[in-house]
Amino acid sequence: MRFSWLEAVALTASVVNAAQDNLAYSPPFYPSPWADGQGDWAHVYKRAVEIVSQMTLTEKVNLTTGTGWQLERCVGQTGSVPRLGVPALCLQDSPLGIRLSDYNSAFPAGVNVAATWDKDLAYQRGKAMGQEFSDKGIDVQLGPAAGPLGRSPDGGRNWEGFSPDPALTGVLFAETIKGIQDAGVIATAKHYLMNEQEHYRQTSEGLNISDSLSSNVDDKTMHELYLWPFADAVRAGVGAVMCSYNQINNSYGCQNSHLLNKLLKAELGFQGFVMSDWSAQHSGVGAALAGMDMSMPGDVGFNTGTSFYGANLTVGVLNGTIPQYRVDDMAVRIMAAYYKVGRDRHSTPPNFSSWTRDEFGFEHYAVSEGAYERVNEFVNVQRKHADLIRRVGADSTVLLKNQGALPLTGKEMTVGILGEDAGSNPKGANGCDDRGCDKGTLAMAWGSGTANFPYLVTPEQAIQNKVLEGRGNVFAVTDNYDMKRIQAVAAQSSVSLVFVNADSGEGYITVDDNEGDRKNLTLWQNGDNVIKTVTENCNNTVVVIHSVGPVLIDQWYANPNVTAILWAGLPGQESGNSIADVLYGRVNPGGKTPFTWGKTREAYSNPLLTEPNNGVGAPQVDFEEGVFIDYRHFDRANEEPIYEFGHGLSYTTFGYSHLRIQPLKAADYTPATGKTKAAQIFGKIEDASAYLFPDGLKKIHEFIYPWLNTTDLKAATADPYYGEKDSEYIPSSAQDASPQPRLPASGGAGGNPGLYEDLFRISVTITNTGNVAGDEVPQLYVSLGGPNEPKVVLRKFERLHISPSKQVVWSTTLNRRDLSNWDVVSQDWVISPYDKSVHVGSSSRKLKLHAPLVFEQ
Ligand SMILES: *[C@@H]1O[C@H](CO)[C@@H](O)[C@H](O)[C@H]1NC(C)=O
Ligand SMILES: *[C@@H]1O[C@H](CO)[C@@H](O)[C@H](O)[C@H]1NC(C)=O
Ligand SMILES: *[C@@H]1O[C@H](CO)[C@@H](O)[C@H](O)[C@H]1NC(C)=O
Ligand SMILES: *[C@@H]1O[C@H](CO)[C@@H](O)[C@H](O)[C@H]1NC(C)=O
Ligand SMILES: *[C@@H]1O[C@H](CO)[C@@H](O)[C@H](O)[C@H]1NC(C)=O
Ligand SMILES: *[C@@H]1O[C@H](CO)[C@@H](O)[C@H](O)[C@H]1NC(C)=O
Ligand SMILES: *[C@@H]1O[C@H](CO)[C@@H](O)[C@H](O)[C@H]1NC(C)=O
Ligand SMILES: *[C@@H]1O[C@H](CO)[C@@H](O)[C@H](O)[C@H]1NC(C)=O
Ligand SMILES: *[C@@H]1O[C@H](CO)[C@@H](O)[C@H](O)[C@H]1NC(C)=O
Ligand SMILES: *[C@@H]1O[C@H](CO)[C@@H](O)[C@H](O)[C@H]1NC(C)=O
Repeated sequence: MRFSWLEAVALTASVVNAAQDNLAYSPPFYPSPWADGQGDWAHVYKRAVEIVSQMTLTEKVNLTTGTGWQLERCVGQTGSVPRLGVPALCLQDSPLGIRLSDYNSAFPAGVNVAATWDKDLAYQRGKAMGQEFSDKGIDVQLGPAAGPLGRSPDGGRNWEGFSPDPALTGVLFAETIKGIQDAGVIATAKHYLMNEQEHYRQTSEGLNISDSLSSNVDDKTMHELYLWPFADAVRAGVGAVMCSYNQINNSYGCQNSHLLNKLLKAELGFQGFVMSDWSAQHSGVGAALAGMDMSMPGDVGFNTGTSFYGANLTVGVLNGTIPQYRVDDMAVRIMAAYYKVGRDRHSTPPNFSSWTRDEFGFEHYAVSEGAYERVNEFVNVQRKHADLIRRVGADSTVLLKNQGALPLTGKEMTVGILGEDAGSNPKGANGCDDRGCDKGTLAMAWGSGTANFPYLVTPEQAIQNKVLEGRGNVFAVTDNYDMKRIQAVAAQSSVSLVFVNADSGEGYITVDDNEGDRKNLTLWQNGDNVIKTVTENCNNTVVVIHSVGPVLIDQWYANPNVTAILWAGLPGQESGNSIADVLYGRVNPGGKTPFTWGKTREAYSNPLLTEPNNGVGAPQVDFEEGVFIDYRHFDRANEEPIYEFGHGLSYTTFGYSHLRIQPLKAADYTPATGKTKAAQIFGKIEDASAYLFPDGLKKIHEFIYPWLNTTDLKAATADPYYGEKDSEYIPSSAQDASPQPRLPASGGAGGNPGLYEDLFRISVTITNTGNVAGDEVPQLYVSLGGPNEPKVVLRKFERLHISPSKQVVWSTTLNRRDLSNWDVVSQDWVISPYDKSVHVGSSSRKLKLHAPLVFEQ
């Protein structure tokens, strides 16, 4: 067979035999688990049941279905239930701020949050974003992202999420979610799951493939890597999850019952709702039974006026294919999330339009119908978020190298600022739609994961202001091809600050032949030549990199004339101020690289698939590397990185000592047993005549309604295949409403509560051994032992502020999940019999302190 499984998986022959047609196969899991209000959800579940019990079938269906692309103001908007005062829900991009709006902030990207390693900042940024979304009348923020996780360094959307390490991502993902939801907005954990590259995530004309690519992954890797942060999200109470475009084991993300029904709902106990990515839905009945709760933006294809849900969902319930409890469960999950974040108290209608910046426009933009009204109220929602943005920008800056060049004193006679990346985009900060170009300084990458800038402080502006305070001279050359001028300025500068970048984004935009994914890992815009010219002429060259992820720096990083290197990621609107804070020492850098800097692209392994490899069938990407991505791969392959995961310098130094480990008393792990409750139904279903379009309704073209135009169900759907193909993909268990066996690893938010019981307390002393106050991020890794395990995996970290010559005792715990492996046979987390140890230090390769973990008998 073409899919070579990991050893662990090969243990279970039955799993291997499940593969059909020689392609990876996703085992079915039905029925779709019904919410039961477990844990924190009890109260809001009860309220949701109360209101849903009063709803008619078409009212429930309305909640589950978007009204169609660009039909209303937000990128996604559901139907409403006017009779019960439930408004249309407004869903809006993105993970870093409000997309397609105005007077909003442009926050640093997720990858920068990862580089701060700061839980509190992650929370504060989430909360600030949530406030802005709420103030604009948005109910659901389409973020944060932890998929892609970052299997390949050149994956186009890695920057929207956090880090290829699942523990770092999981913690910051959860804090971001808590922040957003504490501000009264439903957060969306996306993209679920394994949307690790842009190429072939969707089919399109000219690609010559019948289906989207399939990410094929074994069960152990699924649990230990890609699912891990989503467990943290569910544990944090996330209200929504967005299923992804790609297939997983040759089943689409939005109709994959193993992924949605089994892992997310049955195992992790998710109580909120699953929405489709925009046009990621491929079936009605199939998606409903597999656990998808909301269709976005509602139409089958943009502006087709037809939907897999809407009237089709009404019919699917009437003809008995979709059990009533399933549509009731969809509505309950949506309303429970709505109450959970307090949306019933905060909700206002959106006061901006995603489709125009004009003040007036049609109510239904796509079809120019409805009232001609005020669609943009230009409400300024930025508050004082600029201060936080500047701080996250500075605190995420990673000082990769420093030969005493930094911090600058502010008394430099001549400062050279070199590189296009220091200056502005000649078309303006928002000059390219969805940031789909690489012009001027890079402070945000491209795609739907963006926001409009309210302004963009460039490095040139901020540094020039600082130089002028010290009465120095400053010259900026932002033409990356004028080597003569670059050379002249570099040669006369006391310090040359070189700004370079590398961009990427979402696959619907191609920039310089980068189809979302990066086509290489080198710098853009002639960046390497700019650095070469400067270093040949200036022995004090400081390089600042704005990039979506790692870039190749092998040619120049060791050059003695390169006296410092900083990675500043995608810092958002305050970019220049943030970097100036670090360059001039107003902020002592404490960021740590959230990914590995390899010498070559090959060093990372896991190439993107850029040519179809399965004829006209779905391209197949076998995640053969298992859990070995980023530093875990470098460690296994004995591949020396330039800068390792977790590395980052400071203007001070830190010492590590006194590692102490104390076993804690914990109850034995008890796999969940027994059965769930039976499914319940809320309210009753009438016959079809009760769900006809109301008399006299003036239909909006292309608008998706829940109603039927005839009691002839087949005719109402206008589906030529109506009633014909169902038996091919609907197992009889899909309609079973009886109590279902509990999965051993289930039982609470994020899985079995026993997984989150602490087994050890660990403490370490960290001393600031330098002369200035600074931040250090102690990192705790564990070695789980066993023949096919990573050398070490990150488990705990904390960003600490320490005054000169002061000590801090950092104390943390390891819980059962931290020390377990996923066992494919028992389908549960198990602490393996192999020797385990703890390693603490300042990066994944600077682990000074070690100790074995001794379990109490
Ligand atoms: C994919 O297939 C493998 C091997 O059969 C299995 O272990 C894994 O659980 C499947 N995952 C999904 C999401 O279907
Ligand atoms: C469904 O939502 C639309 C748009 O908000 C609304 O006009 C319609 O009345 C709703 N239908 C029902 C049954 O509530
Ligand atoms: C798809 O097939 C057509 C017809 O065979 C061909 O002209 C086109 O180049 C193919 N496109 C790609 C991306 O391979
Ligand atoms: C129902 O779904 C089918 C696809 O399964 C689609 O062709 C049809 O247009 C849909 N009907 C309505 C009323 O949206
Ligand atoms: C946004 O607009 C809505 C409706 O136009 C209004 O009720 C709400 O108060 C506005 N929000 C702000 C913050 O002005
Ligand atoms: C890598 O891609 C960038 C962006 O398209 C381009 O500027 C650069 O020249 C490419 N590098 C190489 C070595 O081809
Ligand atoms: C370093 O810069 C000096 C100019 O200050 C130049 O003479 C020398 O060749 C440079 N060295 C390298 C390795 O580029
Ligand atoms: C760098 O060059 C300057 C003059 O161009 C010189 O004064 C200084 O000593 C050089 N520094 C090093 C470390 O070579
Ligand atoms: C509405 O009903 C007619 C038949 O009465 C049918 O031809 C048409 O396609 C139906 N569906 C929709 C979505 O309009
Ligand atoms: C029931 O309705 C759904 C939604 O329109 C349709 O896809 C399915 O084929 C129908 N099944 C039967 C048995 O009529």
